[in-house]
Amino acid sequence: MRISAVASIVALVGVGLLAADEPLSYATHVRPLFEKECGDCHGPKRPKKGLDLLGAGAVAAMVDRPSQNEPQVMLVKAGDAQASYLWRKLAHTHSEGKGMPRGLFTATRLPQEQIDVVARWIEQGARP
Ligand code: HEC
Repeated sequence: MRISAVASIVALVGVGLLAADEPLSYATHVRPLFEKECGDCHGPKRPKKGLDLLGAGAVAAMVDRPSQNEPQVMLVKAGDAQASYLWRKLAHTHSEGKGMPRGLFTATRLPQEQIDVVARWIEQGARP
C-alpha cells in the first residue's frame, strides 16, 4: 500500500517534470490560445497595431521586430520573456496602452498558467 502510494507520487512528479521540459512551439502551444483570446483584434484582417498573431508569418514578424508602442523594445526577444513586449502586455508590465487581452473599455489578464506558457515559449527560443 505505502509503496504504491510512493510510486504514484514519483510517477506524478515525473510527469510534471517532463511537461515542464516539453519543447513548446507557437503553432501547437501558443497560437491556439491567441486565436481564442486575441483573434478578434489581431487576426489577418486589419489587425490592431498591424500585429497579426494568426497568419503564417506571425512569429517572424515578432522575433527581433520592434513594437509599435515602444520601438526600443522588441515584440519577442527570443530567450528573454521579460524583455519581450508581447509578454509585457500579457503580464501588464508594459508602459504604453492597455494590458492584453483588452476589451472595449477594460483590460483583462489571462490566467497565470497561460502567461507562463507564452513566457516558456519565448525562453525556449520562440520556435514557430
Ligand atoms: C478588443 C481588441 C483586442 C484584443 C482582444 C487584443 N488586443 Fe492587443 N491590441 C489592441 C489595440 C487596440 C492595441 C493598440 C493599443 C494598446 O497598445 O493598448 C493592441 C496592442 C497590442 C500589442 C502591442 C503592439 C505593438 O507593436 O506595440 C500587443 C503585443 C498585443 N496587442 C497583443 C495582444 C495579445 C497577445 C492579445 C490576446 C491575449 C491581444 N493583444 C488581444 C486590441 C486588442
